Order: sequence, then C-alpha cells, then structure tokens
Amino acid sequence: MSLSASHPSIAVLCSGGGSNLQALIDRVGCGDLEARIAWVASNNGDSFALERARRAGIPAHHVSARTEGSPEGVERRLLELVDRHDIRVLVLAGYMKVLPAAVIRALPGRVVNIHPSLLPAFGGKGMYGVHVHEAVLQSGAQWTGVTIHLVTENYDEGPVLRQRVAAVVPGDTPASLGARVLALEHDTLWREVRALLERT
Ligand code: GRF
Repeated sequence: MSLSASHPSIAVLCSGGGSNLQALIDRVGCGDLEARIAWVASNNGDSFALERARRAGIPAHHVSARTEGSPEGVERRLLELVDRHDIRVLVLAGYMKVLPAAVIRALPGRVVNIHPSLLPAFGGKGMYGVHVHEAVLQSGAQWTGVTIHLVTENYDEGPVLRQRVAAVVPGDTPASLGARVLALEHDTLWREVRALLERT
C-alpha cells in the first residue's frame, strides 16, 4: 500500500456506481498512483461509490442541498472539505451535478472531469451515460473514446488534458460500446491524475 502521509491528497466526487473511483482506489493500492484519496463525496446518498470508499477506508460524505440545507450549503461544505484536507487535485468521476464556481476557483487548473466520448463530440446537455453511446452509434462514427478535461464554469468545455480512442465495431449496442469505453476510462483516469500531480 502506498498511503504514505507524504503523498499528495486527492478527492473524488461521484454520483453513481463509482467504477472509475474503484479504478483510482486500486491504482493507489498497488502503488501506481502515488496519492492519498482523502475523501469521496456524492450528491446521492445511495451512490455505490460511497460504499466503495467506505470499504477502502476512505471517508465518504453525502453532500447535497438536502443534507446541507441549500445550494450555498453544498458550496460551503465542499470548500471546507477541500481546505481542511489540503486537496491538490479534485476528480469528478461520474458527478452529475454542476460544481459550484467557488470550488472550481479554489483549485485553479486542478479539477478534472472524465467524459465518455471524444469531446467536443458528443458533449454538452443530455450527453451523459448511455445517451452518449446511443448518439455515437446513431451518428455512424467509427471512433469514440474518452476525454479528461479541466473543469471550468462551462460544463464539458474546459481544456482537454488527455484523450484516448476506442473503436466502434459492427454490431455494437450502446451497452457493448459503453462497456468498451468504460474499460478505457479505468485505464486512463489514473494516468492523467498522476500526470497532473507531477506538474502541480
Ligand atoms: C463514466 O462513464 C464517466 O465518464 C461519466 O460517468 C460515468 C461514471 O461511471 N462521467 P462510474 O460511476 O465511474 O462507474
């Protein structure tokens, strides 16, 4: 295990199953990613990502307008979590909420999001989950992939940090294409987090 106190702290925001979070936990565990996951938070108390965090001994927080009383309360709580743990990089891994601008400003150039297409293609409003892969198949594109980008106040429009390509193959369904892209996500996110930690 490389949970050394000298490693920089990262934090992860999720809304759903948290398979990308799991990939980060596993890479930290085997020493490929020299970081400490200080906390995980979700807007969704039932998110399996929170359970994955607990199983790995990582503090898991449900942070929503309901738990905090208001959107301003969410902003305050996230800022407090960032400050208190000296977070170097904040990772959005399937986080379905817009991150408060004050949180983005608190970590300039150090908030990243993963998106399951080659942005700017198949990004923006409504382009999440299976909808992305449906749209790729409908377009007849032969290629899709993964994008990791910096988070700015315009969703899905921050500078691209890393992209990897996945083929669309004959007979693909949204589910089969989604599974291929997700596997690529798992092998891509930790590499960019490591690179970002090395240069910040
Ligand atoms: C991933 O496809 C990610 O790119 C997108 O949401 C999905 C999250 O999956 N932003 P998981 O919760 O990491 O399994």
